Amino acid sequence: MDLSVAETASVLRSVIAPFVAQGAIVRRPRATAWAERHQTDRGAREMLAALRDRYDGAPLSMRLGPRRMVVVTRPDQVQRLLQGSPDPYSPASLEKRGALKHFQPDGVLVSGHDERRVRRPLNEAALDADQAVHRSGRTVVDTVERGARELENQVRATGGLDAQQFARTWWSMVLEIVFGERARDDLGLVELLDRLKRDANWSGLHPRRTRRRAELEQRIATHVREAAPDSLAGVGREVDAGAVAGQVPHWLFAFDAAAATTLRALAVATARQEVRERLRDELASADPEGPPAVLPYARACVLEAVRLWPTTFAVLRDSVRDTDWDGRTLPAGTGFVVVSSFFHRDPQRLDVADRFAPEVWLDGRADEDWGLVPFSGGPASCPGRNLVLLVASHLLVRLAGLDLRVQRARYLADDPVPATVDHLGLVFRSRR
Ligand code: HEM
Repeated sequence: MDLSVAETASVLRSVIAPFVAQGAIVRRPRATAWAERHQTDRGAREMLAALRDRYDGAPLSMRLGPRRMVVVTRPDQVQRLLQGSPDPYSPASLEKRGALKHFQPDGVLVSGHDERRVRRPLNEAALDADQAVHRSGRTVVDTVERGARELENQVRATGGLDAQQFARTWWSMVLEIVFGERARDDLGLVELLDRLKRDANWSGLHPRRTRRRAELEQRIATHVREAAPDSLAGVGREVDAGAVAGQVPHWLFAFDAAAATTLRALAVATARQEVRERLRDELASADPEGPPAVLPYARACVLEAVRLWPTTFAVLRDSVRDTDWDGRTLPAGTGFVVVSSFFHRDPQRLDVADRFAPEVWLDGRADEDWGLVPFSGGPASCPGRNLVLLVASHLLVRLAGLDLRVQRARYLADDPVPATVDHLGLVFRSRR
């Protein structure tokens, strides 16, 4: 269905503009605060639901300058795009290539077909994509435990925790998980990457800073050479020493989403006693001597946080050949858009749309639903999913024991939960 100029303008205003304003690659704090004040995800979702109903679930085609973009509105259409990746639906969309070339031109996400054949297995192996607990799980959980202690000291010293204080400890943990203990203080690397990510928010409109990127590559190459064997880079080095450094910028970048999700899950836990208690009980019943525990409830809370507040606003695909949709041939080079917050919270399909309902991840309902894709799905889905769930769940159960209370807890204490939560504005206070 071709949208009219007026309908296209509404989609631009309600769906695309808030997402671009907040920063597709790295969030801009003033814009995320504005998005929360205006609950922008609600507007986006209502606009798409209205168009879905008006056109009976047909894909919505828009012309944006020379580009044709198709917004899908049914889970079977999402399934078709994601299962059909990377051919005929390539994850390396024009917009992603424009943005990610600033700091990860060799990342698998923006790779062509032949490079993907090498880089995807490398990512899967280094991140142990299929394993709930990474082969270096013990080291990962020890790092998380140390991070949790550091945050506890922070709470003791200042009486609370905000997103910025959380970030300092988080990034040390991430550097240790990615490269090993020697790297944990190199927060300068994170700052350098951040600056390039800020350029990436402007996609192709911002010139590339070649010198800065060369510096990033050189620093990462040094860390990879010196990486501990059980770090992610160390494991990746064993698989393909030549290609691993090119994947590291994406790993570091993607831990940003994991931080946002952990903070949001923690915010809900601190606002709801029953969630907090269940998390504490799960940690208490884990065997401290055995291999790192899979914490199903904590993992479900993390998944639920990223369902309710997806960190990838839109999953994008570009067709690499002509494809037929509803009896119509769309030419190669068409862009396809899956707007996560629309699918994740669609009250027409989901009775838990606006509820914090970790149980949907425990009873298999969510996994069967192609509309619930916080980590994407199909052959190009996130290979970091299990690692994220390991890190975030182990941190969450420990922080749940600190007796924190999130400011403005009343918005999260009951359902329905807000459409938009600015994780950068979260502030926690100790109850003690
Ligand atoms: C809450 C945290 C995270 C979320 C919600 C998330 C979500 C996603 C999504 C939706 C995609 C698909 C993007 C697309 O198709 O456009 C993706 C791809 C990817 N993610 Fe994650 N991710 C997270 C963290 C991580 C971490 C920590 C790592 C690595 C350490 C990672 C590694 C990757 C890689 C390598 C890809 C590209 C896969 C490919 O193109 O084949 N992710 N992620």
